[in-house]
Amino acid sequence: MKILLLCHSSTGNTRLVARFAARHLARLGHEVAFHELGRGTPPDPVGFELIGVASPTMYFRPMFAVEAWIDGLAALPGATLRPAFLLCTCAGEPGAHFELQARQLRQKGLQVLGAHWVAMPSNWPPHRVLSRAVEPGLPLGRLLIRGPLRPLRVGLGFVWAELTEPDARDRRELEDFLAAMPAAAARRPWAPPAPEALYRAWLPGARLAGRKLGPREARKSTQVRIDPGICERCGTCVRACPSGCLTWPDESAPPRMGSGCTGCWACYNHCPHKAIAGWGSPPGLGRYPGPSAPTRALFADEPR
Ligand SMILES: Cc1cc2nc3c(=O)[nH]c(=O)nc-3n(C[C@H](O)[C@H](O)[C@H](O)COP(=O)(O)O)c2cc1C
Repeated sequence: MKILLLCHSSTGNTRLVARFAARHLARLGHEVAFHELGRGTPPDPVGFELIGVASPTMYFRPMFAVEAWIDGLAALPGATLRPAFLLCTCAGEPGAHFELQARQLRQKGLQVLGAHWVAMPSNWPPHRVLSRAVEPGLPLGRLLIRGPLRPLRVGLGFVWAELTEPDARDRRELEDFLAAMPAAAARRPWAPPAPEALYRAWLPGARLAGRKLGPREARKSTQVRIDPGICERCGTCVRACPSGCLTWPDESAPPRMGSGCTGCWACYNHCPHKAIAGWGSPPGLGRYPGPSAPTRALFADEPR
């Protein structure tokens, strides 16, 4: 089957998982094209029989920049909907992510047949700052989540940001999901789930929050600013911003924050000099360095 996998990642978690997904689907015998949103023009989706969208959850919903990119894609021609699937990485609660993205894709001529999320360490700086206080207890947390207490992992991940490091079981579950999607797309007629049925939030209010929160609230909660005394004028933040809201007219001065910020903390997380401060986080504190070496190794190879 010809599969197109569209992906966006702010700090590398989703990219790692989506690249693994692309390789795994290819290993299962499918012809897979992989494209990162925001990096040039995506391949024309018309020739593909299945389309996957992989993106991070932010504010209990799909990242705003991803939503904007999908909005900008042309709707597929014809009255017949084409099959699609969703992947996301998040710290433990996708909220309304799948529901909202499935509705948006429907407008583009895609019918979502299934959705899957992989728990990854949080890249939300305030969460990482808070969890530093209890981080010394992480080995105990890891011990706790073995065996029957494993379902607690995601809940406890809200206290220990690193507790949601995925393991072999997460990879197996992802592989099972990936194997099921082309099979579901090949079966006719489809029995697509209603968008709300793709995922049931376990955190009270998460779905409602995801439906209600907009870029304005996100921007307010972030309030990132560049410290001119620390900024080395390298321009990394300008390149990392998925909303293009950072401008840099004078390269001898720090970049300027424009008005289109969507509160994703990409600039903060990417700044190599820890020159960006945000609400609740002094410059660089709690900055997410990207997936750890064990997590990279977990998704680096084909299943053993
Ligand atoms: C602004 C912001 C909001 C987030 N909101 C959520 C959330 O609502 N639920 C959740 O489980 N994780 C949340 N996260 C954590 C990310 O979804 C998670 O770390 C994800 O794996 C990041 O993917 P990436 O590295 O591909 O950007 C949030 C992270 C950020 C930066």
